[in-house]
Amino acid sequence: MSNKIPVAVLASTGSVGQRMISLLDGHPWFEVVEVTASERSEGKTYQEACHWFLSKPMPDYVKNMKLLPTQASALQKAKIVFSALPADIAKEIEPDFAKAGMFLSSNASAYRKDPLVPLLVPEINPDHLDLVELQHKNYGWTGGIITNPNCTTTGFVIPLHAIDQKYHVKQLFAFSMQALSGAGIPGVPSLDIIDNVIPYIGGEEEKLEFEPIKIMGTMQPDSVKYHPMQISAHTNRVAVVDAHTICCTIATEEKPSVEELIDTIENYQVPDVTKTLPSCPKQAIIYHEEPNRPQPRLDRDLENGMATSIGRIRKDTILDYRFVSVSHNTIRGAAGGSILNGELIARRFFGM
Ligand SMILES: NC(=O)c1ccc[n+]([C@@H]2O[C@H](COP(=O)([O-])OP(=O)(O)OC[C@H]3O[C@@H](n4cnc5c(N)ncnc54)[C@H](OP(=O)(O)O)[C@@H]3O)[C@@H](O)[C@H]2O)c1
Repeated sequence: MSNKIPVAVLASTGSVGQRMISLLDGHPWFEVVEVTASERSEGKTYQEACHWFLSKPMPDYVKNMKLLPTQASALQKAKIVFSALPADIAKEIEPDFAKAGMFLSSNASAYRKDPLVPLLVPEINPDHLDLVELQHKNYGWTGGIITNPNCTTTGFVIPLHAIDQKYHVKQLFAFSMQALSGAGIPGVPSLDIIDNVIPYIGGEEEKLEFEPIKIMGTMQPDSVKYHPMQISAHTNRVAVVDAHTICCTIATEEKPSVEELIDTIENYQVPDVTKTLPSCPKQAIIYHEEPNRPQPRLDRDLENGMATSIGRIRKDTILDYRFVSVSHNTIRGAAGGSILNGELIARRFFGM
């Protein structure tokens, strides 16, 4: 019998769900025992219902699994649940899983702003998992909800935190060029995006302007104290399949040289509790010296898609410094990030 932790994937047939199914194939700690999708797919086998779009083939383990209804009462075995649900459905039903004693690692935005729900990036704030104890005390849940940030926030927040730890970021101006896979399946119609840029992604700028201040906030006994930095964001959809590119301009309290900033980035160490998690990249931030890097097509798969690539660190003419970062949106920004959060849950609540 397997001694792995039984897990479920909610909305397992979508863009993020498929990545989860693929990344969980052969996972050393987790075994997928239940999968769900919408009513349209319920009762079908995974391979009947899913329009698989990843270049790596659909794993054998999932092909004949039956898609269950997306309800807490339909799950009989899972202890940790990965959610790739649309935000409106997540809002309605995610608490049911926490009430029923499951630990839910969600990609959806529904509970990211809840003051007792951790917005977790294990390379930055694993201590925010303490909020789950407050969920038990205040919400009466025996499980919990843990969220990962929007894929664009994830794309720059790790280098931003590395700089902030030493030199204290006061202001951030962020301009994104976001991949098509961020819009789910089937995504943006081809005639809208080929030969084009779409300068609007609904709700995205607000997420970028809020999420870093919670992630980089300080854990206090009863809440997270938000980081005081100011953020302004522009978000755009471009004709790239995977990986978001974000150009960032920052103002800092201290004014190191560009060489000192590069050194800080290159030597950033993730917290000890995170280092040995199975999905943690060996190098969380990869600095590229070439003047034309990072690029989505060339750099998105580094460290199995879990690294943040950064380059073009230079002085700015209005604020202090600017840089470019690239990160895989459906791996580090979604499925892989959610699984890394699940591993932190497993370490804290299941003794792994
Ligand atoms: N794509 C990204 O880069 C990214 C990054 C970070 C976060 N997210 C978030 O992750 C979530 C999923 O995004 P996605 O890109 O994977 O979307 P998607 O490709 O459109 O997939 C949607 C999934 O939700 C299922 N679903 C739809 N309605 C449902 C319902 N009423 N009940 C249960 N399941 C339902 C679908 O099942 P059927 O196949 O049966 O229709 C499918 O599995 C969203 O909240 C999104 O904002 C996405």
